[in-house]
Amino acid sequence: MAVVTTRQSMLFQVILAFVLFLSILNNVNAGITSTFIRSEWPATDIPLDNEAFAVPNGHNAPQQVHITQGDYDGRSVIISWVSPDEPGSSKVHYGKSENNYEFTAEGTVNNYTFYKYKSGYIHHCLVDNLEYSTKYYYKIGSGDTAREFWFETPPEINPDTPYKFGIIGDLGQTYNSLSTLEHYIQSGAKAVLFLGDLSYADRYDYNDIGLRWDTWGRFVERSTAYQPWIWNAGNHEIDYFPHLEEVTPFKNYLERYTTPYKACKSSSPLWYAIRRASAHIIVLSSYSPFVKYTPQWTWLREELKRVDREKTPWLIVLMHVPIYNSNSAHFMEGESMRSVFESWFVEYKVDVIFAGHVHAYERSYRISNIRYNITSGDAYPVPDKSAPVYITVGDGGNQEGLADRFLDPQPEYSAFREASYGHSTLEIMNRTHALYHWNRNDDGKKLATDAFVLRNQYWANNQRRRKLKKHYLRSIQLKRIGYWLIRSKGSQSIVIHRLHP
Ligand SMILES: *[C@@H]1O[C@H](CO)[C@@H](O)[C@H](O)[C@H]1NC(C)=O
Ligand SMILES: *[C@@H]1O[C@H](CO)[C@@H](O)[C@H](O)[C@H]1NC(C)=O
Ligand SMILES: *[C@@H]1O[C@H](CO)[C@@H](O)[C@H](O)[C@H]1NC(C)=O
Ligand SMILES: [Fe+2]
Repeated sequence: MAVVTTRQSMLFQVILAFVLFLSILNNVNAGITSTFIRSEWPATDIPLDNEAFAVPNGHNAPQQVHITQGDYDGRSVIISWVSPDEPGSSKVHYGKSENNYEFTAEGTVNNYTFYKYKSGYIHHCLVDNLEYSTKYYYKIGSGDTAREFWFETPPEINPDTPYKFGIIGDLGQTYNSLSTLEHYIQSGAKAVLFLGDLSYADRYDYNDIGLRWDTWGRFVERSTAYQPWIWNAGNHEIDYFPHLEEVTPFKNYLERYTTPYKACKSSSPLWYAIRRASAHIIVLSSYSPFVKYTPQWTWLREELKRVDREKTPWLIVLMHVPIYNSNSAHFMEGESMRSVFESWFVEYKVDVIFAGHVHAYERSYRISNIRYNITSGDAYPVPDKSAPVYITVGDGGNQEGLADRFLDPQPEYSAFREASYGHSTLEIMNRTHALYHWNRNDDGKKLATDAFVLRNQYWANNQRRRKLKKHYLRSIQLKRIGYWLIRSKGSQSIVIHRLHP
């Protein structure tokens, strides 16, 4: 038996540490598959009589209150709600101080049936010409069942304005969904980029479909009444039920959730764009035609030309079906959209693309597969500095549970993946830097798990900025802060991994 002296063992440890250090520095493509296994809470919907779905007291009290941005630049909101018993009033009373509603806006009211379910009276009211960076209080409904809420308008469009977005996908209405929503509310973010698949009401049948759209509206009100959710439709919004003679896609969704699509010259509420603070956000519809010459394709081509990185440095795209996904769930489903739009995403230097659909978390490196052309070219994604980072956040916590079968081995394009529930935040600091987090629901606790500094694709590649950055980059080559390992590499993003204690 060999006798290992203390000195030899120390030397060995030093060499081991050095090798580990080198592998961290050099092996850019060593993706991480998290070994975290969540002790799963049942993926069942919260029962109808649970307080998470509480109906506000009183006759015709407004419920399911939600707001979204109402115009291109953030000076309007659309306030929507349901009056359960009678049409009631579509007026919104609002003002800049509590209990002092100096202004009034008039909205519309509509109702519809889905099979034999009769909806409540759905109001949508545009409140426009607001001041930037201002807190507004608003009141809807009438008499002693009127209800009051507030929201804050974003700062004026400006390239260096800080702003914090939340990112949530595939939420549903289970106890896991509740945990995600509560953690999101604690994050301090100001608006939600929602990645599609809202209520999962289509998992029910007959009149329960409409009822579960209602419970979801009441469930998310704790956030949606106070800050805009930027909506995006997923497959669970299609609601295609031939046996109930309900065959109009997106019927429940479009009656209830509106988007400011006309402000950006879109012809459909399913695809549109908004600008908010320092970000230009493009919402694409995975379940509407997008091949060449279709309305969505034509619109996107024009919208990308309108992007002005001098005014809104951050170009963010939302879609439901991920283009780069290494989970066996929904594998390759994004390939059709990739083949149509990927070259534009690279040409226009999109910063980040968020998708949902796959019930897990995954982040890619900056890669593209635009050279592939059927007959030749690389048929495999390659590192591409102009490509976006692709992030899947389909882990809101719906009743279908987690997608825990990742392809093995992990493809080189995949940087980090984990099958557990959570939400993300993107905190824009200025035109060059944004701090990104994915926050795992760790059995009820919120735990930042994947984090990195996203460097802006337009400004980070700019000569002037690069000079400015040199000093900054040199100063943080590799640092350990608490459990975070921070590294920087040329003009690439600075990646931070969480180390095990
Ligand atoms: C809408 O509401 C009106 C007035 O209460 C009612 O007469 C009508 O039947 C409703 N329509 C639908 C489609 O439910
Ligand atoms: C396909 O790609 C190859 C290799 O990059 C290139 O030589 C060829 O011209 C391309 N074909 C077409 C039709 O674009
Ligand atoms: C943006 O913020 C980062 C982090 O605070 C800072 O290092 C950088 O210099 C800022 N960039 C500009 C252009 O102000
Ligand atoms: Fe989906």
